[in-house]
Amino acid sequence: MKSITIHPASSATGEIVVPGDKSISHRSVMLGAIANGITTVRGFLRGEDNMATMGAFRAMGVRIEDDGETVVIHGQGLHGLKEPTDIIDCGNSGTSIRLLTGLLAGQSFFTVVTGDQYLRKRPMKRVVEPLARMGARIMGRDKATLAPLAISGGSLNAIGYESPVSSAQVKSAIMLAGLYADGETSVREPTLSRDHSERMFRLFGASLGVFKNGVTVRGGTELTGQEINVPGDISSAAFFMVAALITAGSELLIRNVGVNPTRTGIIDILRSMGGRIELIDEREVSGEPVADILVRSSQLKAIDIAGPVVPRAIDEFPAICVAAACAEGRTTVRDARELRVKETDRIAAMATNLRVLGVTVEECDDGMDIVGAESLGGGAVESFGDHRIAMSLSVAALVSQGGITIGDVDCVATSFPSFFPLLEQVAGR
Ligand code: S3P
Repeated sequence: MKSITIHPASSATGEIVVPGDKSISHRSVMLGAIANGITTVRGFLRGEDNMATMGAFRAMGVRIEDDGETVVIHGQGLHGLKEPTDIIDCGNSGTSIRLLTGLLAGQSFFTVVTGDQYLRKRPMKRVVEPLARMGARIMGRDKATLAPLAISGGSLNAIGYESPVSSAQVKSAIMLAGLYADGETSVREPTLSRDHSERMFRLFGASLGVFKNGVTVRGGTELTGQEINVPGDISSAAFFMVAALITAGSELLIRNVGVNPTRTGIIDILRSMGGRIELIDEREVSGEPVADILVRSSQLKAIDIAGPVVPRAIDEFPAICVAAACAEGRTTVRDARELRVKETDRIAAMATNLRVLGVTVEECDDGMDIVGAESLGGGAVESFGDHRIAMSLSVAALVSQGGITIGDVDCVATSFPSFFPLLEQVAGR
């Protein structure tokens, strides 16, 4: 397990492009595989999580070519997937395992899906339970609440599901199963989570309706292959946004970033903290809003974060914690219990690490209070095997005293293999 030391920087400057959106990349392979005809994907994220999804569909007989620039998926139609000859390993990827479980529930064959030591601890009941109500037969550890999951797919009936959590993975798993169900399946969530599935289902020609915090899918409609351009991932851009805000003398342009309103909570939060962030040349590409983002160093102040903005920034809280640690005053985070069941418990992980850097942090069940520090100390911190924890602490290191050594950073490859070289590129020294 590799560790890395990141040294302080005088600025974060220049012009960068971040890799493709992880959520959109997963969905492009999944829908491409069950569509009729060819789907081409440009800007596909070649992180470990997405390669796991690609591997799963190759194992189910889908021809997928990748010349390093364009991914070409030879769609097999709704009913053309084949039973894999071995278990499907989703690695660290929650999106792969949960969305696949939904899709596999509707296939007339048997599959076992599993993942790494972290994924095997994450809750699966949230997808297994609604899928079982649709008639899916799924077995797994601890009463089918933990992977590995064994799925005997078959015919499904449509349901109307009120999800207790705002989760795009839950919603999308049910939508994928809904493609195979008899009738119209609907999902409603407490507040709207990212809507990439809704947008991409529509692009591929699915029979879809959206209503407040919900979606309906009619089963049996064939999909048609598409040409997709994946924008840069705002979750990856977030680390560089925070880097530029907290480092004096910074001006950083991040080109071609997805700015879907269900994902821009990070921009709203950082702007409320006083962050100078401009969106330039807003446009639409493959059904998704895209812009260039200009960020300048700013004096940040503490705010209270709670309510509907939380799901819109759910993956960005480790980075937000770093911004809060550099802001003036006490930042509070509430309604964010979901952070406890991400790749690691992100509330506990950030609290532990920020304390090492001399920051005062108080945890509560669904969030935390962070008291901004005059300056961040240095030292040795831990990723806990979580890519976003590792990258957030790397950003904190830019304003630390003497640098920070982050343990176990191999996990960064799950979503952002080029992160460290890119951070070195922007860091003025
Ligand atoms: C994702 C949904 C979110 C997010 C994850 C990607 C997706 O998870 O945290 O990184 O692609 O659907 P939840 O659905 O568990 O909130």
